[in-house]
Amino acid sequence: MTDLLAIVLAAGEGTRMRSSLPKVLHPVGGLPIIGHVVRAAKAAGATTIALITGPDHDQIRKTVSGLAPDVRFFDQVERKGTAHAASMARELWQDAKGYVAVVYGDHPLLRGENFQLVTDRLDDGLDVAILGFEPEDPSGYGRLITDGERLYAIREHKDANEIERAIGLCNACILAFRVEVFRALIDKVHNRNSQGEYYITDLVEMANHANYRVGFAVAPTEDVLGVNDRVQLAHAEAVFQTRKRDEMMREGVTLLDPATTYFSYDTAIAKDVTVEPSVWFGPGVAVGEGAVIHAFCHFEGAIIGPNTQVGPFARLRPGAVLGEAAKVGNFVEVKNSKIGKGAKLSHLSYIGDADVGAAANIGAGAITSNYDGINKHRTVIGDGVFVGANSSLVAPVNIGDNAYVGSGSVITDDVEADALALGRARQVIKEGYAPKLRARAEAIKASKK
Ligand code: UD1
Ligand code: MG
Repeated sequence: MTDLLAIVLAAGEGTRMRSSLPKVLHPVGGLPIIGHVVRAAKAAGATTIALITGPDHDQIRKTVSGLAPDVRFFDQVERKGTAHAASMARELWQDAKGYVAVVYGDHPLLRGENFQLVTDRLDDGLDVAILGFEPEDPSGYGRLITDGERLYAIREHKDANEIERAIGLCNACILAFRVEVFRALIDKVHNRNSQGEYYITDLVEMANHANYRVGFAVAPTEDVLGVNDRVQLAHAEAVFQTRKRDEMMREGVTLLDPATTYFSYDTAIAKDVTVEPSVWFGPGVAVGEGAVIHAFCHFEGAIIGPNTQVGPFARLRPGAVLGEAAKVGNFVEVKNSKIGKGAKLSHLSYIGDADVGAAANIGAGAITSNYDGINKHRTVIGDGVFVGANSSLVAPVNIGDNAYVGSGSVITDDVEADALALGRARQVIKEGYAPKLRARAEAIKASKK
């Protein structure tokens, strides 16, 4: 396979987002837009990826190096347009071999196969191949001026005349070149357009003047939607979710109401899982075979074992790991805790920073008190432990295997295996006292009249 250098552009200001967060860090499916683009370039087999960022874009660099440590970063100090941005990776393209693809960083639905559409055209002998698409509304996009298979120029919307604006075929987001052709042209771009910028799209007309062979390929519209404002961001999110829902269902997951099930880019669900309506899968969630997720749950960073039952109204936060056939019922929150095989947390619990043993039963309203206001502490609950309703386990504390904690206990000391722990005031009975109490209350009420 021919070497492919992908130059991803992300230095633009994206002012139409009206945000203090750089445009390409806005998430789609829980992953920043730029993450989707870098993943697509990797999936396409790019041998080297360069990312062009602005000097104030530390956050973009941090995010991307977390996702793909081998990405090379280049600063575009002054934002003088897409050609100027692409030229910043000079160190890489000046000696590169094979192909170079310039990719806009604001296209979160891009996939590896979209790169192939244009690199295939280079394989067929073209010198320059541009990815086009036919959006419903082409306004704002650069128009492809073609004659049959040949592409003559790309005219930016702002610079286009009436006739050019009537063209429906637009520049999507990947411009691919034989690297020698790119090298011959990139430094010669002028800034004669309406914005006073150096446009990468001008390379097309220049390549024609230099008698190179220039053509295009057409991508499915949904793959190449650009994000310039929050309306387009919401549209991209909707397309992402539809894709992911369809993919899940095709792989054997039952979604009772797909339109209300939200996934992240990395959600992994095994077959024969059923998901009831209104469930949110944040990043880092995996679900094992046969689990049932009842309605109205919220998950992030959680591993849900096979044949578990979760919800309705359950919240799993980062580090929640549910063992096989465990049950986490309504209004239960689990954070940074391992729940053993077959353990049950059926109602109204908070379990944080804990290990819950196999087949343990945590009663309604029982919680771990894991935070002392300054530090977090662990609670270890053994196998087969029974924690009575409304108990508070004040960490750090250990409850031995098969121990029993009486309802309403506040447990501050370790409990031995097989022991019964009671941490509450002893019950007092005063026989026949209720009528006296009532009479006293009635007297108080009468004295107020
Ligand atoms: C661009 C294309 C247009 C295409 C459309 C598809 C140009 C001149 N126009 O327009 O033909 O139809 O995308 O979505 O290429 N960037 C930099 N440095 C800069 C300017 C931009 O890195 O100086 C980056 C931006 O961060 C962005 C990308 O390049 O990721 C494209 O720039 P943007 O301003 O979004 O261009 P569009 O107007 O969308
Ligand atoms: Mg754009």
